[in-house]
Amino acid sequence: MIRASAELTNTFALKSIAPYAADLTTLDEARQAIRYAREQGLTLRTLGEGSNVVLLPQVKGLVCRVLNTGVTVIGMDEQYVSIEVGAGKNWHELVSQTLAERWYGLENLALIPGSVGAAPVQNIGAYGVELEEFLESVTVIRADGSVQVLPTSACALGYRDSMFKRHFVATAEPLIIFSVRLRLYRQPRVNLSYTELEKMLVAQSRHSQPTPQEVAKAVIALRQSKLPDPAQFANAGSFFKNPVIDGSVAQRLQRLGVEPYPFQGHFKASAARLIDLSGWKDVRHGALGCWPQQPLVLVNYGGGTAQDLLSFAQQIQRSVQEKFQLELELEPSVVS
Ligand code: EPU
Repeated sequence: MIRASAELTNTFALKSIAPYAADLTTLDEARQAIRYAREQGLTLRTLGEGSNVVLLPQVKGLVCRVLNTGVTVIGMDEQYVSIEVGAGKNWHELVSQTLAERWYGLENLALIPGSVGAAPVQNIGAYGVELEEFLESVTVIRADGSVQVLPTSACALGYRDSMFKRHFVATAEPLIIFSVRLRLYRQPRVNLSYTELEKMLVAQSRHSQPTPQEVAKAVIALRQSKLPDPAQFANAGSFFKNPVIDGSVAQRLQRLGVEPYPFQGHFKASAARLIDLSGWKDVRHGALGCWPQQPLVLVNYGGGTAQDLLSFAQQIQRSVQEKFQLELELEPSVVS
């Protein structure tokens, strides 16, 4: 089960090697991996599809990938269906499968790269919806091999944040996300709160309310028009978070042409706009560049290293800091 010296897959196409790696399909295999790491004194970490990480050339310890992909119905009533999904399931495959089953809610999250197990780590979100809305619980395996079902309230989800993300940064203690429980609607209920999505659907639709399938189609079209396909242009989606700011900073930025928008009692500034106004929109340094249609996405055009990427990102951060006195925070996790 344990392999020595494994190359790690990641959508940034960064060369990265771990001394040990393991694929885990069952709870038992996960427990064995935890035991092995403890006995050998290795750090254990899990990676999904590597779509939201910057992997350094040498990653320490035992790197595990959870491969269980089952989708099981746990409960159902008139309004809701609860499903348990293996952490290894591809996120977009799940979105397509739920729509085919007529279970609704995930359509705005169509085409987000990555695995189901990684979804709560980032509290993935797009086009007015965050995972949080549909997450019931996360089943994890702890360092002592015990299985725990964490309700959403225990996951401390925030904007692209969770206790998992903080745990992985702060401690070497193993924590394996094994499956995720979601509660979806059984009746169509579409979310068109994202203006651009609503505009696109109103322009297309002949009837007043679009179907969830139409929403998914529109989201896919929007993403494809703006975001580079990682299979063609290596990237990890948004590289920075949109800064959350208070009213006085929002006013200051408004005067500089940024147009912040309300967010949970505060304001958010579009990082894409800040980067764009700082002159980085079409910039390319060697293998690294900003994606012209969405400069918040950094692209490795071929052969770039983690160091190249982080130093390119740092230059962007410095420009934005100088021009707007704002700090851009990295969205992906840096793994060493
Ligand atoms: N913009 C510019 N210049 C550009 C392109 C965009 O100024 O060249 C500005 C525009 O003002 C535009 C704004 O950026 O209105 C917003 O662009 P977009 O709709 O792509 O949203 P975003 O805030 O940049 C966030 C998420 C995305 C998610 C979209 C849609 C973060 C960090 N990113 O991007 O998530 O898909 O909203 O909901 O919150 C990801 O996390 O990897 C990701 C792609």
